[in-house]
Amino acid sequence: MTNSIAIVYAVLATLGLKIFIDFLARAKARTLYPPGPRPKPLIGNMFDFPLTKHALCYIDWGKKYNSSILYAEALGNRVVIVNKRDDAIEMFEKRAKIYSDRPVIPMVKLMGWQYNFGFLAYGEEWRQHRKISQQNFNLKASRKYSLIQVKKVHQLLQALHDAPEDFDAHNKMLSISLAMEMMYGLEVKSIEDPCIAIADEAIKLGSDLLAPGGSLINIFPFLQHVPAWFPGATSRKQADIVRSLTEEMMRIPMDQVKTAFEEGRAVPSFFTDFFEKKQTFGASKEEEQAIQNIAYTVYGAASDTTISATGFFFYFMAVNPDVQRKAQAQIDHVTGSKRLPTLEDRMSLPYVEAIYREVMRLGPPLPLGVPHRLTEDDYYKGYLIPEGTAIFANIWAMTHDEDVYPDAFTFKPDRFFDENGVLNDDDRVLAYGFGRRICVGKHIASSTMWLMIASVLACFDITKTKDENGNDIDINGDILHLGLLKWAPYYYYCYSPDLCFHTQVKKPSLCVHSKRDLLQPRK
Ligand code: HEM
Repeated sequence: MTNSIAIVYAVLATLGLKIFIDFLARAKARTLYPPGPRPKPLIGNMFDFPLTKHALCYIDWGKKYNSSILYAEALGNRVVIVNKRDDAIEMFEKRAKIYSDRPVIPMVKLMGWQYNFGFLAYGEEWRQHRKISQQNFNLKASRKYSLIQVKKVHQLLQALHDAPEDFDAHNKMLSISLAMEMMYGLEVKSIEDPCIAIADEAIKLGSDLLAPGGSLINIFPFLQHVPAWFPGATSRKQADIVRSLTEEMMRIPMDQVKTAFEEGRAVPSFFTDFFEKKQTFGASKEEEQAIQNIAYTVYGAASDTTISATGFFFYFMAVNPDVQRKAQAQIDHVTGSKRLPTLEDRMSLPYVEAIYREVMRLGPPLPLGVPHRLTEDDYYKGYLIPEGTAIFANIWAMTHDEDVYPDAFTFKPDRFFDENGVLNDDDRVLAYGFGRRICVGKHIASSTMWLMIASVLACFDITKTKDENGNDIDINGDILHLGLLKWAPYYYYCYSPDLCFHTQVKKPSLCVHSKRDLLQPRK
């Protein structure tokens, strides 16, 4: 008995010593890493990571530790946050060979999201997906989708005209139906369509599980082996739900488009282009799987981001009537107030271009981008960044950097013009990320956003809602709730704060008024 106690003590003492030595070793190595909050024994910086307003918190860290590159770690997960654009370009672009991987997030596989190629490791499989995507979505190739973009934007105008108070639903419809038609050639009639409802639920539940603090499995990966039936395994159960929703989300549109193709009634789309190619030249199993994965990825990657950006646009217009007036004058001048703007007008409407840039600057939909992973130890500015570190570009910090954008919190499209009134060369939209993982759909996103902005401003005035005394109701200023993967300010941006937070009554505090009837007859 005494012997067993002695053994237990000896084991505990050895364990304690090991933890202490590890801690000292880490503390020593820590001096080589970029600055950041001091880690605690065992848990590291686990409780230093913010749960909300991440981008703002990392700006504060930057000030506190006097560094634009920050380091923190918890339970073996290392994180670097990059607050400055030049550092992001140096790391993600000039050193792209080692900064282009993605961190492994255990939840991704449990939810069946490994088909989303945005999460794929940097390797052959990713390269194949990326190549096909680039061939289809580069600047020139993406023009094949412009008829669908125009149709969807015009449907948005009609919907805003018919039921302006439902602009939030119309916003959703624009992005979702655009992705569905581009990828599968399927026309979504309403956001209540079962296929959309399933996808919506999968994305909502899944994003919650991926959000910081959303699941312990992301912190303690061994928990993924706990069976879903085990008491308390809530996120494991949720992951199972998301996985079956995701399988449906992939299967339903694919079955529909395959049937349509076989029956000869398929509408041209990314998918049907592939089927045609397959019939003529054949295709490997891997290629077919990649096509399915890309279509599904685009649906997820294109919808919430565009919805968020469009939501920001409506908000910025409601609180900046002068900007609206100026843009409308330019649009009217070019179109003679007799037709809707077209994508061909883009060069002739520089102020609309500047609004697009400013919307994406002030409201980047993914404030911390999507993390990259470093595949080799690297030395940067004298700091060691160990292999395996997840690197976050704090896009929000970069687009709100007062040194680059004075008066950064004000919506000012004029900042994109030089002293001669010509658009300046600051046309790099940081909201699309960096390097080899930069948003592959950025040309489609850019043209959709631009056409939506020009067309909505041609037809509507956007104002704040008035109260019963005719005074403007202030719009909830807390739209800048900066999540990591919870990028959706539109959930509540348009509702007055009291109504939104206390009663959930959806009273829009933003109004859309028809300016004139430019809506063209459509089928
Ligand atoms: C306003 C709209 C959009 C924004 C702000 C946006 C933003 C982003 C960002 C920040 C990333 C990660 C970049 C990085 O890792 O550095 C990304 C990746 C991606 N985006 Fe977008 N996106 C938008 C629309 C779209 C659209 C319309 C598509 C498809 C047509 C798309 C497809 C993708 C894909 C497939 C990836 C993963 C790329 C990879 O990992 O190689 N996105 N996007």
